[in-house]
Amino acid sequence: MAEEQTQDQNGGGVATSQDSLSVTDNRTGETYEVEITDGTVKAMDFRGIKVDEDDFGLMTYDPAYTNTAHCRSDITYIDGAAGILQHRGYPIEQLCEQSTYLEVAYLLIHGELPTRQQLDDWVHEITVHTYIHENIKSFLDGFRYDAHPMGMLLSCVGALSTFYPDAKKIDDDFERHIAAVRLIAKMPTLAAFAYRHNLGLPFVYPDNDLSYPANFLSMLFKMTELKYEPDPRLTKALDVLFILHADHEQNCSTAAVRNVGSSQVDPYSAVAAGVAALYGPLHGGANEAVLRMLDRIEKKENIPDFLKGVKDGNERLMGFGHRVYKNYDPRARIIKKNVDEVLEVTGKNPKLEIAVELEKHALDDEYFTDRKLYPNVDFYSGMVYEALQIPTNMFTVIFAIPRTSGWIAQWMEMLDDPDTKIARPRQVYKGERDREYVPIEQRG
Ligand code: ACO
Repeated sequence: MAEEQTQDQNGGGVATSQDSLSVTDNRTGETYEVEITDGTVKAMDFRGIKVDEDDFGLMTYDPAYTNTAHCRSDITYIDGAAGILQHRGYPIEQLCEQSTYLEVAYLLIHGELPTRQQLDDWVHEITVHTYIHENIKSFLDGFRYDAHPMGMLLSCVGALSTFYPDAKKIDDDFERHIAAVRLIAKMPTLAAFAYRHNLGLPFVYPDNDLSYPANFLSMLFKMTELKYEPDPRLTKALDVLFILHADHEQNCSTAAVRNVGSSQVDPYSAVAAGVAALYGPLHGGANEAVLRMLDRIEKKENIPDFLKGVKDGNERLMGFGHRVYKNYDPRARIIKKNVDEVLEVTGKNPKLEIAVELEKHALDDEYFTDRKLYPNVDFYSGMVYEALQIPTNMFTVIFAIPRTSGWIAQWMEMLDDPDTKIARPRQVYKGERDREYVPIEQRG
């Protein structure tokens, strides 16, 4: 792309002076016009900037995608500076107050809130697909008694592709739909079975009379009683947590689902990639890490020493900070309220007092305020799980249950986007070149 040329060659149309960027390459003195669309420039538009004909062309370098939009999306809007989160235009606060997780899942996937009939059909479909193939129980049995449930979930989700080989037909509307239904329906069953495996308890089959969150609690906790019916306040609290975790635009796991899905693999394999990404302590694993951190802090008196360690760079304050939110994470605000309601049912938790005090100290400390580090969704979510008597290693698994609807919505949007190609980043090669092979006897 030489001087005077515009983006025609890259399919971007001719830029006007208002929506273009003039770039001068000081190596050559050439000036280029780059089109600006929706506040972005196309990285490919820089490829034409070269010092000579043999030059590969300019690339952009952005190892953690800190300033790279990898898609256009209509699903989730976040304003990180203002602390705003909306799904399909609906504020998260309204969804948490008035909706249910399954309705939000419908909204994410279909783009609109359902009518009464559509919602009833959707809930019915999810409810009748909660059972898993009996063979899955055999390979769950193959895991060690103390296998991390997230590792078990990851394997089981990937394995689902072998039970539903037609899911490979990713252009078939019915196959896409049924994969979405199956994934949303079976995640709680897989999660609960992994938990029961850890405890050596018999698996509890889904109860179709119960709501989505109540059925999950039943599969976790039912013992000898004929019917397990959790306190509706706890069911509601869990449902709110599910809504809060349903989608969060291009986070690490969603980007993983889109990247892996761009190879046109089946949705179960793509979602397994999302589960793997979520497992990491800097992402979904943070809620587990928060509780371990609070255990280590042990009592309020130890908070100043702990924070000194964080500021000295010896460790991180888990549950604080976010790539996008540079303000209080709106989800953390809702969860904090949720914790109070749950503790009214379950009784006080000393860890909550440490967490509240820790938050106060951090928000009063320039180290955190200067870096705009505020509590994120994971700071308090673990507290609700703990109050529900869910063990720490299950926290990330519970995050994966609702995030499945977001992953699927994003996967479907990616498939329908005419700009989608197989994701394949570039690299800047810094290693050796053209070396002569040295036989092993001659190496020093
Ligand atoms: N504790 C202490 N310092 C922190 C923290 C933290 N939790 N988070 C960021 N910082 C500091 C960094 O050290 C850095 O300081 P510096 O400028 O002096 O080097 C500065 O704040 C900016 O941090 P980055 O690491 O550059 O921010 P990034 O956007 O890459 O990281 C992340 C975001 C991974 C979430 C980070 O804040 C973190 O590790 N938080 C703790 C883990 C956590 O809670 N993750 C859950 C995120 S929400 C979710 O995934 C559902």
